Amino acid sequence: MLIAVPRETDPIESRVAASPDTVKRFSALGAKVLVEAGAGLASGITDADYVAAGAEIGTSVLKTADIVLKVRRPNAAETKAMKPGAIVVAIMDPYGADAALAAMAKAGLSSFAMELMPRITRAQVMDVLSSQANLAGYRSVIDASAEYGRAFPMMMTAAGTVPATKIFIMGAGVAGLQAIATARRLGAVVTATDVRPASKEQVESLGAKFVAVEDDEFKQAETAAGYAKPMSAEYQAKQAALVAEHIKKQDIVITTALIPGRPAPRLVSAEMVASMKTGSVLVDLAIERGGNIEGAKLGEVVTTANGVKIVGHNNMPGRLAASSSLLYAKNLYAFVEMFFDKKTKAFAVPWDDELVKAILLTRDGAVVHPNFQPKEPVAAEEPADTSVAEAPKRASKSKSAS
Ligand code: NAI
Repeated sequence: MLIAVPRETDPIESRVAASPDTVKRFSALGAKVLVEAGAGLASGITDADYVAAGAEIGTSVLKTADIVLKVRRPNAAETKAMKPGAIVVAIMDPYGADAALAAMAKAGLSSFAMELMPRITRAQVMDVLSSQANLAGYRSVIDASAEYGRAFPMMMTAAGTVPATKIFIMGAGVAGLQAIATARRLGAVVTATDVRPASKEQVESLGAKFVAVEDDEFKQAETAAGYAKPMSAEYQAKQAALVAEHIKKQDIVITTALIPGRPAPRLVSAEMVASMKTGSVLVDLAIERGGNIEGAKLGEVVTTANGVKIVGHNNMPGRLAASSSLLYAKNLYAFVEMFFDKKTKAFAVPWDDELVKAILLTRDGAVVHPNFQPKEPVAAEEPADTSVAEAPKRASKSKSAS
């Protein structure tokens, strides 16, 4: 059984899908692990570290692999390079990616999208959304403090008093709760909002104040799976009025609001940004899903006309690649371990397991996941790779907006 770990091809991706720890664990299961030279470098893992853990280092690692572990969905060239019947596991970002899914099906791959993992107790150790969002939430506060020209805690010194920074966190899921905890540790005064009633107690238990429109719609806003529902236009208007008043008085706003499979809800208008004091900072953690903040730009730090910065870094977990990769690799290991029968040491994918079924996108030449059935025939993606052309757009940089 050959497991391959290629170097990520997207220039924005600094994470890697295996760690020395998971290499050791796979080897103990009887698998051979082949890591592409340099795959872990951006995460602080050298080829020698992988070799010491039992891996082999190679180039063109995809051709013979039975299982390919990746961070991002394989691009067209990678899809073609894998052998028919190979298994590929990654964060597949499958919404709106019909051509890429069709290409993986056509190539005969069994592809798994880790972000579709059900949030049940047994699968907690495989929950990539949580492991990565937690670190992104932490990093959003660190990035905000780096852009902000003042200290967070109240400091009473002989030379005068520095007031505490006021931070407002919008969306109190995994990333938002970690952002609250981090901002509190740094001494800020923290408020937070969400549309799910369950979040109120969680926010308060972290020492932050909860601010929200708590009407009947709010009481019904959580799906059985624990996610937010899209809110009505009426609710959004009430929410916007409340937020507009609150934001004026804030120094830092961090937004994390997402609805699975949909564009991120727009929560902060340009008018609200303009109402903030010069030197204030906003961080949009939902930027890769279209963003919560008007004026935020993917991969950029925008400075508005009134001197407010809007941070839209791409791939926030990748800004802590060494930590994110360790946790992501462990999430993948926990899932792929299910393919190995511990008693017989044989390799057998449990195709009927509820977790396997929930995240399997393609198998035996077809897109099999019910949520991603093509509505009309789609042409499979051709290997003319666009990642190079996309690179400049994705590069992180500072830019002033007029
Ligand atoms: P997410 O990443 O899908 O969304 C982030 C947050 O944005 C959510 O809290 C959501 O309610 C909020 N949001 C959406 N629309 C909004 C709006 N218009 N205004 C304000 N906030 C808005 O959510 P995440 O972080 O994946 O967490 C979703 C839920 O799943 C949470 O309750 C979390 O505690 C729970 N969870 C359960 C796990 C388990 O049981 N194994 C593991 C991880 C999370």
